Amino acid sequence: MKIGVLTGGGDCPGLNPAIRGIVLRAIDLGYEVIGIKDGWKGMVNGETQSLNINDVEGIISKGGTILGTSRTNPFKKEGDKEKVLENIKKLGLDCIIAIGGEDTLGVAEKFYQSGVKVVGVPKTMDNDLSCTDYTFGFDSAVTVAVDALERLRDTAQSHRRVMVLEVMGRYAGWVSLFTGIAGGADWILIPEIPVDLDKMCDHLKKLRQRGKPYAVIVTSEAVELPGMAEQEQEKDAFGHIILKEKGVGERVAEEIKKRTGFETRAAVIGHIQRGGAPTVFDRMLGIRVGVKAVDLIANQQFGQMVCLKGNEIQSAPLKEAVAELKMVTQQWWNLAQTLFK
Ligand code: F6P
Repeated sequence: MKIGVLTGGGDCPGLNPAIRGIVLRAIDLGYEVIGIKDGWKGMVNGETQSLNINDVEGIISKGGTILGTSRTNPFKKEGDKEKVLENIKKLGLDCIIAIGGEDTLGVAEKFYQSGVKVVGVPKTMDNDLSCTDYTFGFDSAVTVAVDALERLRDTAQSHRRVMVLEVMGRYAGWVSLFTGIAGGADWILIPEIPVDLDKMCDHLKKLRQRGKPYAVIVTSEAVELPGMAEQEQEKDAFGHIILKEKGVGERVAEEIKKRTGFETRAAVIGHIQRGGAPTVFDRMLGIRVGVKAVDLIANQQFGQMVCLKGNEIQSAPLKEAVAELKMVTQQWWNLAQTLFK
């Protein structure tokens, strides 16, 4: 059995532990593993690298991916799909493990429909993949963001200011929600809940009345603000714009200044929250899903994505996993609101 492994989409901590889990489990079963460079781009160009036991030594604690990544979509450019199919034959691959988020696994599902034996491994700091409770990368990203929020609180407290932290997470508010709850934010903005600037500013005024002269706020990069016109922006191969360029954090800070008169500043942590060593949670999850992906192959369970349900590593059809994004639920939002006091 010869397995090709690729990592696609935005990098995140946990990818290398997952690669290590795959390689070490494959050794148990006598399977050969090769690395595909830079996600689906490597499959289009037939670019590979070795993935043996020595390649995965010492990578458990490394952020990013030793295989490289890209946002290449082989279903976007004419002829690329055929190149992937040819390269699978040329390289003698029996199957592919695709490690990625909605975009990368969406491509995996399409190839599965075209007859390629594929297994998916979920990753994304956004935590927005369906059929899995958590994706690796999320816990590490939130850990970094909470640290940033706590640093901003020092400035907020010292200067009696409002500090706004803008975090990533694309169209789902998980990173913002968890950062805000775990970091004790005074208000949280997420894309799933329409923004009520008046309500937020009234709350900030009440904080001052009760003797708290500062506040920290977390906002997701994708929040829609009233009166915010969609700017024309270049899109990637999957149709996504760079949300950071919307400048949501700055705009929230401006609105707060205008409506309350409080001195307010914004900070954007951007890609800092996607780098660095994976947390223990992400290392454990990465290893476990990597090992399980090889077990799925051993059982001929193709077209499946490995997933975390409770504390069990299970699997679900790739088709279901990429059908829709997993968004923040009302129940989670109710919890957040309880904390705005
Ligand atoms: O999907 C992961 C993610 O980090 C999003 O949270 C963010 O909007 C996007 O990727 C940024 O993409 P890029 O690294 O291509 O700028």
